[in-house]
Amino acid sequence: MSNINLHTLTARKQAGEKFAVLTAYDACFAHLVSEAGNEMILVGDSLGMVLQGHDSTLPVSVEEMAYHTASVARGNKGSMIMTDLPFMSYATPEQAMDSAAALMAAGGQIVKIEGGAWLAETVSLLAERGIPVCAHMGLTPQAVNKLGGYRVQGRDRDSAKQMIEDAVLLEESGASMLLLECVPSLLAREITQAVDIPVIGIGAGPDTDAQVLVMHDMLGLTPGRPPKFVKNFMADADSVQDAFKAYGDAVRAGTFPGPEHGFE
Ligand code: KIV
Repeated sequence: MSNINLHTLTARKQAGEKFAVLTAYDACFAHLVSEAGNEMILVGDSLGMVLQGHDSTLPVSVEEMAYHTASVARGNKGSMIMTDLPFMSYATPEQAMDSAAALMAAGGQIVKIEGGAWLAETVSLLAERGIPVCAHMGLTPQAVNKLGGYRVQGRDRDSAKQMIEDAVLLEESGASMLLLECVPSLLAREITQAVDIPVIGIGAGPDTDAQVLVMHDMLGLTPGRPPKFVKNFMADADSVQDAFKAYGDAVRAGTFPGPEHGFE
């Protein structure tokens, strides 16, 4: 796969072509995810849960994210690398610049931060300094204690309206992408249509520009009942590589996620 970048992925949105994102946290899986043709790798702070065994993403540090981002960068074969700024590493715009600088130096190509309108100043400062930003909205796992659990967001009229306004503001502030987690499918479609930047979904229905899953979930490795938005691609695959390829093909073809993977 030739090198994918922000320009490539923004053009995909304009052409109405979907793209696939999967998490990876080390060189081995980064290699497999990119060789399978997935356009982006997310070095998610979900590593705090799936690798480190914590019950939330809150304990993850910038140093740990830099270590995993550098590992992924060494294994990657041309996908664009998005990396998460962890909990409280962007509480002020200045802190965000230091944290983002560390992750970009480690090999990240775009940073992801969780929140809404309050991120506007941070997004502009990072974007003006050449650091692309993805704003993660809806269910923001770093705020799990404030949200009272991992719940679908934007279900009532006021919070849905607020989320649309925040999405537009963050685009105007310089965000290069949005990520919507666990929001009703209709709201995700409305936000996707309201902005010109690519919108990645997870638990956001079939109408976003791209899709992301946590790799361990789509390989069926996560203990317990999987969330509604997950499909186990390993169930019909002969190898992990096949599962990664089947996922990317399904996202690009628009066959995953289906309406049954979204929320009303
Ligand atoms: O950390 C992560 O893996 C994420 C995804 C759930 C989108 O943010």
